[in-house]
Amino acid sequence: MKHHEQLWVLVALLILSMSCRDNQNKPENATTLKETFKDDFLIGTALSIDQINQTDARTDSLIKQQFNAITAENIMKAENIHPAWGQFDFDAADKFVAYGKQNDRYAVGHTLIWHSQLPSFVEAITDADSLRQFMDLHIGAVGQRYASSVAAWDVVNEALNEDGSWRESIFYRLLGEDYLVEAFRKAAEVAPDAALYYNDYNIEQPQKRAGTIRLIKKLQEAGVRIDGVGIQGHWHVDKLQLDAIEESILAYAELGVKVAITELDLTVLPNPWDLQGADVNQAFEGGVDMNPYANQLPDSVNQTLADSYEQLFRLFLKHRDKISRVTFWGVNDGQSWLNNWPIAGRTNYPLLFDRDNQPKAAFHRVIDIKKNTN
Ligand code: XIL
Repeated sequence: MKHHEQLWVLVALLILSMSCRDNQNKPENATTLKETFKDDFLIGTALSIDQINQTDARTDSLIKQQFNAITAENIMKAENIHPAWGQFDFDAADKFVAYGKQNDRYAVGHTLIWHSQLPSFVEAITDADSLRQFMDLHIGAVGQRYASSVAAWDVVNEALNEDGSWRESIFYRLLGEDYLVEAFRKAAEVAPDAALYYNDYNIEQPQKRAGTIRLIKKLQEAGVRIDGVGIQGHWHVDKLQLDAIEESILAYAELGVKVAITELDLTVLPNPWDLQGADVNQAFEGGVDMNPYANQLPDSVNQTLADSYEQLFRLFLKHRDKISRVTFWGVNDGQSWLNNWPIAGRTNYPLLFDRDNQPKAAFHRVIDIKKNTN
């Protein structure tokens, strides 16, 4: 071989080896979640404002590769979208739905009526009439604006206590149980094409499940449309209750509504005082023992996470006819709210992609379920 030919072979080999290395690392070349489960259910993620603005190209391409449904993590909550009475800030939400349209994604609106992240003018309301007016104005304006771009709404979020009784939110205190019916009625009126969901955490647990069943029946008996129930899915990796989850999927489906897993993540960190759930208003003091994996996740825990995700997805697949969507609460571990809740400043590992947007063992295990059954 002549000298210059040798050089070309060398260059070609170098390019080939670089692209191989790239292939191994880049999730875009791996099988994707949305492709893998396309005949089963939608696969979603919550998007932060930075992700809606597409500020990081690598995260943005991962989102586009992997997910076919998107939920607004914060920007559609009342404190952001309706900061003062009758004054709406639609900028971020408009971008969110535009992103959904451009990329042909199933956009989920989160959330219309919730006691948390309320603007202060609502917190200050003390009479039923004003609160009713707020609900009407809020659902009317937001629901109508996104009537053709939001495919599903979390109409009411977290209306129940752990024992299944009504949460003493401002809505319940001033309006009683009927606020639920009024919220769904208004949503159905202004967003006739959107799927309407009730969304809550721990509603796979027996008592809270019973409360959710009462709530769904109440809407159905009032002749008001409810299409689905969202089990948030903020669970602990060591405390997954697959039986309770399965019983709940069956019980909700029995009522004729779809089940979505709307905010899936599995914390691997110790919970203060055995806390279970996702009450965003709870906060606790940290300490070194509460943040055991600040530098890296031990392989054993990474494997436990993979086991748990595999078990969950096997269950979801078993009930794929009842499940409309499985949405993760974030794209990668770095973004997860669980780094700051219920204790601020920890390092958590609850999702399928790591801080570098690389797929974790859990990702491969979830994908492999389908590979091995096909
Ligand atoms: C969380 C967001 O992820 C955080 O960024 C925010 O600070 C608090 O709210 N249940 C819900 C979600 O319905 O809206 C919450 O999202 C997590 C618990």
